[in-house]
Amino acid sequence: MRLGVLGSGKGSNFVAIADAISSGRVAAEVALVVSDVADAGILAHARDRAIPWIHLPPGKFRTKLDDEAEAALIAALVEARVDLVVLAGYMRILKGELLRRFEGRVVNIHPSLLPSFPGLAAWKQALDYGVKVTGCTVHLVDQGIDTGPILAQRAVEVLDGDTASSLHERIQKAERELYPAVVASLARGEIHARGRVTGGFAG
Ligand code: GAR
Repeated sequence: MRLGVLGSGKGSNFVAIADAISSGRVAAEVALVVSDVADAGILAHARDRAIPWIHLPPGKFRTKLDDEAEAALIAALVEARVDLVVLAGYMRILKGELLRRFEGRVVNIHPSLLPSFPGLAAWKQALDYGVKVTGCTVHLVDQGIDTGPILAQRAVEVLDGDTASSLHERIQKAERELYPAVVASLARGEIHARGRVTGGFAG
């Protein structure tokens, strides 16, 4: 399975997936890493590992891609023969053509137990709300914000005295375990979304 990994940030999820591939735990290959942020850590990690990468400027909008940028992204993923698009901290909303082109083949990780706390800084939302358990979710991407069918979740306890950063750190640790495991299951064709109807992976 050829992965196209998209990220805007430091790239710790990408590193976890790349490490899991190197150690034989995930039967996949990262075909391309794409970022909308020129100096994102994820691109430096790709460079260090000699994995093909590109910086694709997002165009004129703040939260989504303009049509031209989306077309360039699709072209790059198609050219790299990507089977699965893996969002790893990609902070742009994907809509329309890309989701049609890769229907049921775009996954995302989000730092909360969805459907609670979609959107930005989900760990802080959880802390501010006062929940006792939060976590992370891997889901298929649809046209909404963090709304697609759930593939897997990992719970993380909120501890007395947690700060936003201590909680965020524990959630990210859980993400680094969960995401490679889910990608491994997807590569083996073992995982299916439940509950909500989707195009699905292996089916
Ligand atoms: C991850 O914690 C991921 O859950 C979050 O961005 C972070 C990226 O970290 N994504 C979202 O909030 C998407 N709604 P990383 O660059 O170190 O992998």
